[in-house]
Amino acid sequence: MDYHIEELISEEKIEKRIAELAKQLDEEYAGKEIHLVVILKGSVFFACELAKRLTVPVTLDFMAVSSYGDGMVSAGEITVKKELDEDIADKEVLIVEDILDSGVTLYNLKILLAARNPKSLKIITLLDKKENHEAGIKADYVGFDIPNKFVVGYGLDYAQKHRNLPYVGVVIPD
Ligand code: IMP
Ligand code: MG
Repeated sequence: MDYHIEELISEEKIEKRIAELAKQLDEEYAGKEIHLVVILKGSVFFACELAKRLTVPVTLDFMAVSSYGDGMVSAGEITVKKELDEDIADKEVLIVEDILDSGVTLYNLKILLAARNPKSLKIITLLDKKENHEAGIKADYVGFDIPNKFVVGYGLDYAQKHRNLPYVGVVIPD
């Protein structure tokens, strides 16, 4: 497929919003430690920018799950491709996601992690396609609500490409 990418959210806007989210988290987790569970690969860019701006103590771990192949259509369940290194029991866990689309990934992930008895379990997502949610799931913190379009950049890929774009753009077929 031939396509081009049109900017939807600029790098400047993203970074400003991440700073706001970090400030909000600093206030809400004051006196606590946040354990970031970063979902590979897409959330890494967002997680780094967020973590750098937090002043409460932060630890982090990584997990890889998949609900999609290399295309644009959702499957229905998740597969754990890389497990966490550490136990999350009694930790203030914040799942860091790049995008909440149908919600299937996070719905299943939340059930999986809740069973490990964290002290708290919340979700932050950079992007939220609210109108698309099928699973009964909602992020606790959202960077941007976006329309139901396929986007890339700032960690998000199309067939593994464009994760390194510093902005978020829409994939437009030519
Ligand atoms: P969900 O389970 O439908 O919420 O899908 C979540 C996952 O699908 C994300 O973590 C992304 O990897 C992928 N995804 C959903 N929408 C997009 C998009 O617009 N661009 C790139 N990846 C997407
Ligand atoms: Mg993906």
